[in-house]
Amino acid sequence: MTYQPSTDRYDRMPYRQCGRSGVFLPRLALGLWHNFGSVDDYQVATDMIRYAFDHGVNHFDLANNYGPEPGSAETNFGRILRENLASHRDELFISSKAGHDMWPGPFGGNSSRKNLMASVDQSLRRTGLEYFDIFYSHRYDGVTPVEETMQALIDIVRQGKALYVGLSKYPPEQARQAYMVLREAGVPCLLSQYRYSLFERTVEAETLSLAAANGSGFIAFSPLAQGLLTDKYLQGIPPHSRAARATGFLKVEQVTDEKVEQARRLNECAIRRGQTLAQMALAWVLKDERVTSCIVGASSVKQLADNLQALQNMSFTTDELGEIEAILR
Ligand SMILES: NC(=O)c1ccc[n+]([C@@H]2O[C@H](COP(=O)([O-])OP(=O)(O)OC[C@H]3O[C@@H](n4cnc5c(N)ncnc54)[C@H](OP(=O)(O)O)[C@@H]3O)[C@@H](O)[C@H]2O)c1
Repeated sequence: MTYQPSTDRYDRMPYRQCGRSGVFLPRLALGLWHNFGSVDDYQVATDMIRYAFDHGVNHFDLANNYGPEPGSAETNFGRILRENLASHRDELFISSKAGHDMWPGPFGGNSSRKNLMASVDQSLRRTGLEYFDIFYSHRYDGVTPVEETMQALIDIVRQGKALYVGLSKYPPEQARQAYMVLREAGVPCLLSQYRYSLFERTVEAETLSLAAANGSGFIAFSPLAQGLLTDKYLQGIPPHSRAARATGFLKVEQVTDEKVEQARRLNECAIRRGQTLAQMALAWVLKDERVTSCIVGASSVKQLADNLQALQNMSFTTDELGEIEAILR
């Protein structure tokens, strides 16, 4: 049966202005790093995109290397769009990125102009899109001058291949430089994308305020610490979890006793708030005024539904915040 998006989809999601721009993004975006590749179930992937769109999630986050196999998440997403959302392109905000290993040889995995210009064309071909809404430099590679990478991003916008540009995981020093180069070229950084969760708070030191001071929005990735901030690992490692999957990026060694114990105590706190741990972890990331949005991953519609419920209770009392800090200390 032909998919018909729900008509009340925009009533279900709060949208936040992204930095100093006219773009308003949903507080929760869906990431396609895992679960959308050629090894995954295409029907489940389709159902998740439909469910997301039906609930106001109109921002989808991709990168050239998402899969596995690398590139296949873009290919699958393009197909899902054509089969389900072909007439809704202008309602969608779609990102891609380049900078991690993608093809063999010296040009296949850094932040050079050579890599970015080839990558954006490859990603457009795989998705079948005419343009990305935002194209990111996926990382600072430690070698390529920031000016070279930024000039490539600026040219990608000037060539009409992306509307906006973003930075992912740039250390503060290089981010500062990048914001300046982009601003001076009249192509300001729309979004800064970094790992941020109850378990990973490095960005609180400098990055969050640096992005805000430069008029960039901030979007958090892995807000559930790849699943550690859910109730899934409280009784061991379940067979169908990311940690158990050979292709998953969460390694068994990362599921430590300390993390599981902290998750157990956080879970008790979430239950007292009438939430699941996943919902509380998302609400916690989104409580910072500087956070535009966060990108969740999901391996089922059920998880996505659980996560979207976070939007129903996003405020914390001082006592709750104190209790959370004490658990993490
Ligand atoms: N810029 C970058 O370098 C970068 C890096 C990483 C990620 N990202 C982006 O951020 C997105 C999100 O990253 P992530 O997938 O690591 O995010 P995450 O939200 O921290 O983890 C998602 C995983 O947690 C589990 N999960 C999610 N909801 C759950 C729930 N309600 N109950 C139980 N388990 C749940 C699922 O794993 P199971 O398979 O175990 O069910 C799911 O795949 C990526 O898709 C990508 O778009 C960007």
